[in-house]
Amino acid sequence: MWQTRLATASLLLISAYALNCPANYDDIGSGCVYAPDEQLTALEAQVLCHDFQGELATLDRCDIFTDAVHYLEETGGMNDSFWIGGTYSVTRDEWQWRDGSVIAMGAPFWGTADGGTWEPFGGNCTGIFYGDNPYMGAYTCDAEFHHICEGPSTAEGRCNLPFTPVGSQCLSFENATQQSWQISRNICQVDGGDLVTFDDCEQFSIVANYILEHDLQYIDRYWVGGYLETWDTEDWFWLDGSSIPMGVPLWGQFYVGELLPDNPTVERCLELGYEYRHRFNDLDCLELRRPLCMTSPVE
Ligand SMILES: *[C@@H]1O[C@H](CO)[C@@H](O)[C@H](O)[C@H]1NC(C)=O
Ligand SMILES: *[C@@H]1O[C@H](CO)[C@@H](O)[C@H](O)[C@H]1NC(C)=O
Ligand SMILES: *[C@@H]1O[C@H](CO)[C@@H](O)[C@H](O)[C@H]1NC(C)=O
Repeated sequence: MWQTRLATASLLLISAYALNCPANYDDIGSGCVYAPDEQLTALEAQVLCHDFQGELATLDRCDIFTDAVHYLEETGGMNDSFWIGGTYSVTRDEWQWRDGSVIAMGAPFWGTADGGTWEPFGGNCTGIFYGDNPYMGAYTCDAEFHHICEGPSTAEGRCNLPFTPVGSQCLSFENATQQSWQISRNICQVDGGDLVTFDDCEQFSIVANYILEHDLQYIDRYWVGGYLETWDTEDWFWLDGSSIPMGVPLWGQFYVGELLPDNPTVERCLELGYEYRHRFNDLDCLELRRPLCMTSPVE
């Protein structure tokens, strides 16, 4: 049955921007998904996704939620129910995705159960359930359903020199010169890139571990594409204007002191440094570091 679905899917899901998806996964435009044939409990489903280098899907954006539902429609999955990666946290009294981010209640993701009651209703695990509607609902975690795994997209084979694929990004660890943050940015731009930014914690983790595995931490510390806009608001931004989350797990700690950033009047550029166990540090923009550049994977 699923073979037929996949054959149909590959015809229907031609997207403008191709991702590199891991083996078994289908590119649905906004992400890489895989719906194995097995019907499993939510916990077993997560283990199986993990065996396939993925996780139960986090459908936390309108685009990936919509694309995933269309994928189920187009592959004949709308008569089945599928676990996805949201669970109720008793300690936080909140619904959360696997990375701990909060699932907002109500529209547009949650449906209504039994002709009117807003989901989540009657269970601690989330899925897209046949019979309800193609929206999210909750169910007891030990029920056995199909499931949607989400895999990491990779930039493998799609980075031009001097960039090298690291997870979903093309990066270049420039070690020729140490420069101020602004000059480092210009160096990246000459190569058609910019200082690196991280959309999510998973990609940040892939990059930090790459630095460790390749012993790059002993070479030097890097400038990355984040800055403090004004000292009086203490809001940090990525170069694209989106905000950088504060606290764990991204920001480091200065020895046994407080969590960084700790000096908004002077230190307004973002460093990735080994002293802070490969987490973020605020630093004076005129200090000299090496640029950690990124560019978009080529088509
Ligand atoms: C779903 O179930 C309905 C009613 O049993 C059936 O008519 C329809 O063909 C099924 N759709 C798919 C894609 O299997
Ligand atoms: C949800 O989890 C809590 C804590 O483990 C449990 O007490 C409760 O019965 C669960 N709810 C359902 C509907 O399974
Ligand atoms: C960085 O410097 C090291 C040591 O000088 C060298 O072995 C390595 O090839 C350099 N890396 C790049 C990307 O230039």
